[in-house]
This record gives sequence, C-alpha cells and structure tokens, in this order.
Amino acid sequence: MRLTGKTAIITGGARGIGYATARRFLSEGANVALWDVQAGLFEEALRRLEHGPDRARAYEVDVTSREQVQQAMAQVESDLGPVDVLVNNAGITKDAMLHKMTDAQWDAVIDVNLKGVFICGQEAALRMRERGRGVILNTSSVVGLYGNIGQTNYAATKFGVIGLTLTWAKELGRKGIRVNAVAPGFTRTEMVETVPAAVLEKLQQKTSLNRLAEPDDIAAAFAFLASDDAAYITGHVLSVDGGMTL
Ligand code: CAA
Ligand code: NAI
Repeated sequence: MRLTGKTAIITGGARGIGYATARRFLSEGANVALWDVQAGLFEEALRRLEHGPDRARAYEVDVTSREQVQQAMAQVESDLGPVDVLVNNAGITKDAMLHKMTDAQWDAVIDVNLKGVFICGQEAALRMRERGRGVILNTSSVVGLYGNIGQTNYAATKFGVIGLTLTWAKELGRKGIRVNAVAPGFTRTEMVETVPAAVLEKLQQKTSLNRLAEPDDIAAAFAFLASDDAAYITGHVLSVDGGMTL
C-alpha cells in the first residue's frame, strides 16, 4: 500500500498499460483518475476496477487540448484531491516506412505523444510547484532508445519524451517534484496488434526472457517510481523490456 492517500491521473487509462497501471495504483491505495478520449470504454473499465467514485473516476479528455486538460485537472482536484502523481501514458502509432510516411501521420503522432505530454506535464507541474511536491512519470519505449523500422514519427516522440523527462527533472527537483520515464518493451496490448505476426515473433525471440511484456509488468514499474520507495530517483529512464536489447 505504497500510494495510500495519493491522487494520480493516468492518461490513456481506459485500456492497455494505462488501465493496468490504474488497477495497480488502486491496489496500492491511490485515488485514480482515468483520462481518455474513448469514453465508451469507461463504464466497463470502472466496473472492472471495482472501486467507487471516491477512489476511481473517468474523465473524457484529449491530452492535446489545453482547455480540456485544464478543466479536467481542476475537476480531478475537486473530486479526488490535489494531484500527487501524473502518469503521461496516452500514446498512438501511425506506422509507415520513411519513404511512405505522410505529413498527417507525422503530425498526429507528434501531437499526442509529445505535445500531449508537454501540456499535461506543464499543467500538473504548475500545481505541484505550489505545493512543493509531486511525481511526473512519462512513457517512452524501447523504440525511444533504439529506434524501430516503420516508426520515424513514433521514435521521434519517444526519444523526445526522454528529453522532456531529463529537462523537467533538472528544473523541478528543487521544487520537490520527481520526474522519471519508463521505457517498455513490446507489451501485449491493442497497440501491438498492428505489428505483423512474423515481426512480433522475431522481436520475442530477441528478448532475453523470451516473452513480450504484460501490461502489469509496466504498471509495477510505474507504481515503484510513483512511490516513496523511489524518493531519491529522478531523471531516470527505467527500461522494462525483458532484456530485449542485451
Ligand atoms: N522490425 C523488423 N523488420 C520489420 C519491422 C520491424 N519492426 N517492420 C517491418 N519490417 C520488415 C518487414 O518484415 C519487411 O521485410 P521484407 O522486405 O524482408 O519482407 C520490410 O520491413 C517492409 O515491411 P512491409 O512489407 O510490412 O512494408 P509495408 O510498407 O507494407 O508496411 C509497416 C510497413 C507499416 C512499417 C509494417 O511493416 C509494420 O507495421 N511494421 C511493424 C512496425 C512496428 O514494429 N511497430 C510497433 C508498434 S507497437 C509500438 O510502437 C509500441 C512500442 O513502443 C514498442
Ligand atoms: P493502447 O492503444 O492500448 O492504449 C492507449 C490509450 O491511450 C487508449 O485508451 C487511447 O484511447 C488513449 N489515447 C490515445 N490518444 C489519446 C488522447 N489524445 N488523449 C487521451 N487519451 C488518448 O496502448 P498501450 O500499449 O497501452 O500504450 C500505452 C503507452 O505505452 C503509450 O504511450 C505507448 O506508446 C507506450 N508503449 C507501449 C508499448 C507496447 O508495446 N504496447 C511499448 C512501449 C511503450
């Protein structure tokens, strides 16, 4: 119960890694706000989380909208209390080989994966600075450390997330705010369903632990970094990739 009494916002929390993180945070005592554009998933997600509105709530928020983020953050603070932890998890892919990638594919991924992290992180930091405490966790990727075929746009954002993380750790440490990133390996969620089966098979074979990650593997890393067990850790990028890059 390392997160008792803490309030956490998890962007992209309606499914996948974000949902698993919400479940883990609740089990560790946190109050959790799920933010997502897919409001249609909320009823089922909240039912499966098995916690009432005093502990778990869902908000329809597009992380690329400054106005929606500001409104939702104020609403979370009124519903669940001051935000102690922000998990910037919302992300998308629009994969294409470089010679086929369109401006629209580039822009869409930059908007959600990079600008969305900027907006949410900035709005949370403004509030955390006033209170002199807080934790911001960003989601990079094994692709944000090593690149990946077909992911020019996505790799640029996930490398960029590391840049934001290190910069914010330097800026905000003196304000009592820790900032870290998790870099997951390929994880069994709907996001990897676009990857051709043969490619996925090769990636698994390259992984030392010989399996893809489960969302709970990533959630456990977020829970550790959110907790006081990580009180002296900031500006770190934690790879959770089963030894894929060894
Ligand atoms: N790793 C290694 N080889 C890859 C690859 C990858 N990730 N992606 C494609 N290739 C190979 C293909 O096997 C193919 O090889 P051959 O020419 O020898 O057959 C070659 O690259 C060209 O691929 P396609 O024939 O599929 O080309 P396409 O233009 O039809 O499609 C593509 C290109 C959209 C990039 C498609 O191949 C694809 O979706 N690849 C997977 C990309 C990927 O790994 N995305 C990860 C999504 S999950 C995620 O992003 C989460 C995270 O952080 C890890
Ligand atoms: P997912 O596609 O299952 O879930 C992502 C969630 O984000 C969805 O519920 C989606 O509706 C939401 N979302 C998308 N755009 C949004 C927006 N503009 N505003 C608010 N919510 C939005 O993906 P998954 O796998 O759970 O990924 C979560 C994060 O982990 C992403 O940042 C992804 O890049 C990263 N990641 C995933 C890996 C994987 O293999 N699945 C590996 C490494 C990193």
